[in-house]
Amino acid sequence: MNILGLSAFFHESACCLLQDGRLTAAAEEERFSRVKHDPRLPVSAFRWCLEAGGLGILDLDAVAYYESPVKKLSRQLWAGVPEGAPSGLPWIDPGMPERAIREGLGWEGPILTFEHHRSHAASAFFFSGFPEAALLTVDGVGEWATTTYGTGRGSQIEAFEEVLFPHSLGLLYSTLTSYLGFSVNDGEYKVMGLAPYGEPRYLDEMRQLVAQEADGQYRLDLRYFDFLRGRRMYSDALPRLFGQPPRRRGSEISGFHQDAARSLQVVLEEILLAKAAYLHERTGLPDLCMAGGVALNVVANGRILREGPFARLFVQPAAGDSGGALGAAALAHVELTGGRPPSSEPMRHAYLGPAWTADEVARILNGLELPAQDFRGREAELLEAVVDRLARGEVVGWFHGPMEFGPRALGARSLLADPRDPGVRDRLNRLVKKREAFRPFAPSVLAAHAAEHFDLDHPSPFMLETCRVTSPLDLPAVTHVDGSARPQTVDPEQSPRFAALLQAFHRRTGCPILVNTSFNVRGEPIVCSPVDALISMGSSEVDGLVLEDLLIDRAMLPANWGELLPGWMERRRSGFARGEGAVSPDLYTFV
Ligand SMILES: [Fe+2]
Repeated sequence: MNILGLSAFFHESACCLLQDGRLTAAAEEERFSRVKHDPRLPVSAFRWCLEAGGLGILDLDAVAYYESPVKKLSRQLWAGVPEGAPSGLPWIDPGMPERAIREGLGWEGPILTFEHHRSHAASAFFFSGFPEAALLTVDGVGEWATTTYGTGRGSQIEAFEEVLFPHSLGLLYSTLTSYLGFSVNDGEYKVMGLAPYGEPRYLDEMRQLVAQEADGQYRLDLRYFDFLRGRRMYSDALPRLFGQPPRRRGSEISGFHQDAARSLQVVLEEILLAKAAYLHERTGLPDLCMAGGVALNVVANGRILREGPFARLFVQPAAGDSGGALGAAALAHVELTGGRPPSSEPMRHAYLGPAWTADEVARILNGLELPAQDFRGREAELLEAVVDRLARGEVVGWFHGPMEFGPRALGARSLLADPRDPGVRDRLNRLVKKREAFRPFAPSVLAAHAAEHFDLDHPSPFMLETCRVTSPLDLPAVTHVDGSARPQTVDPEQSPRFAALLQAFHRRTGCPILVNTSFNVRGEPIVCSPVDALISMGSSEVDGLVLEDLLIDRAMLPANWGELLPGWMERRRSGFARGEGAVSPDLYTFV
């Protein structure tokens, strides 16, 4: 049974392949197209999933789509189509997704469609390994639902309550993200990272924006929001409430912005904690699965696990809309076979994307006439050479094995550095990632040593919760201003080479931890191919680059490298802008 799961036309299109219930491939389209958050039909991800499974299109039994276009239309009509909405996306055409799948992918077989939040819930539950669990999904909006409460038992998932649009915690967070001068559907991480710098001085104002109600419900005070009309996220009443004008993008971040971010985060956590308690009370189940964009709020996740009533929490690494593809595929498997996808084990890794062998990398480098140190057959020497570089303060690009699915780099497409180095954070932000100075970096730690350095008593392989740093070492590069971190625990069984690198660094320095940030520069998706990594190296200050068994020194790149290949990227990008209706980063991607 080969099922292709697909999410598209909203935010972060993706495909995955479920073969006899086993997840064998998954990737976001943005990694191939190099357009961040690419919402288009995921043609490249689709082709790649077939290739990864060794399948032709006729070998598929079904395509599973992650939301119901007809139900979505009823909400869109109720809300009114936003002014200036771009053409080419299915605003008022519920037949468009199916036509696109038929015409754009050439698929003539069955298309099974599942509701957006049902896909979210399934994407967590069926990959959690829990025989039964309480299910909480929270995002901006699906068709009508913005939050759902339910249970998963065996092959069945049921929702017993939902919160309906326009009342939405995701849209609340996105509205404040926009007011604070960051892009909607992209800058929410930045608001979360900014929050610990501030004090919760605006709790009363935040509680005016959103009021908790009985059971699972809450309400936005719509006087403060304008997303229904679609011109912008907030109305004029919102800046009046805070007594501050909206922040212009790129302008200075003040104490007010920090305090507002903190207040928003506190109120979000308050509501999620209360609703998790309600869900526990209703279901009596010990384990919780969460999904939807708000489940990527790792600070809230950490609090739900520490302070909430549930014993265990599972969040799937692609908890946002790209992961909807997984849920839809799992639901199709249940519908077609009558049984649960046969993973009684939890999803333990996210290495589900394309990979290149060392020989393939060597051929690419030869073709580009780029010199590299060749460590094929000498892994231990490669690791020592990388440790040499890390220990002297270099930033190393680390490309190994299949690419990660989901927004986090987990040791397959990562930038690595020494977490003890006080200069690393600034250097990474300024020269390598080219992003805001306040944003923290995450640590990867050998699983066996995690408890010695972090207040963490369970594996956290996907960087989906924060915890306190308790390390006897000084770790300035990965410790946030409030003493927290967002660790990835690295298990030698799932990530043998990455774990071996951490072990080698530990042997040399006594520190089993590395800074691990995604391998991309600002505004670009995480690198996918060796060529993407070489381009990224050319446009940033990465010192060394490991492409499988080959090590490239920055000094080996031609002086004009930075100007050579980016032209190719630009051509791909402008093709998108001309051809299929680029999406404004501020509006429309959420409706
Ligand atoms: Fe969603």
